[in-house]
Amino acid sequence: MGGTGTLTVHTGRNEDRLIVEIRDTGAGIPPEVRPRIFEPFLTTKPVGEGTGLGLDISYRIVVNKHDGDIRVQSEPGDTRMIVLLPMRRG
Ligand SMILES: Nc1ncnc2c1ncn2[C@@H]1O[C@H](COP(=O)(O)OP(=O)(O)OP(=O)(O)O)[C@@H](O)[C@H]1O
Ligand SMILES: [Mg+2]
Repeated sequence: MGGTGTLTVHTGRNEDRLIVEIRDTGAGIPPEVRPRIFEPFLTTKPVGEGTGLGLDISYRIVVNKHDGDIRVQSEPGDTRMIVLLPMRRG
C-alpha cells in the first residue's frame, strides 16, 4: 500500500472451513501480473525490497500442506486474499 491505506483482516467459517480474508486498499494487482503472483521470485517491488516469495510460501503452506485454498480478488483500492482452511483433514 506504499505506506498508507487500510489493512483489514476478517475471520469466519462456513460449514467445515476456516476463512481468513486479508484486504487492503492499495493500488491492486495489475491484470498482467495476476496470473503469476504465486510464482517464486516474481516481484514487482524495487530491487532489494521484495523476495517474491511471500505468496509462493503462502500457497505451499495453505494449499499443498493443509489442503486449503487461496482466492484472490483485486481491483484498485480493494484487494482481497481469501484463505480457506479445512478444519478437519479429509
Ligand atoms: N496485496 C497486493 N496488492 C497488489 N499487488 C500484490 C499484492 N500481493 C501481491 N501482489 C503482487 O504479487 C507479487 C508477488 O507477491 P509476493 O508476496 O509473492 O512477493 P513480494 O510481495 O513482491 O515480495 P515479499 O513477499 O518477499 O515481500 C508482488 O510483487 C505484487 O506485484
Ligand atoms: Mg509479499
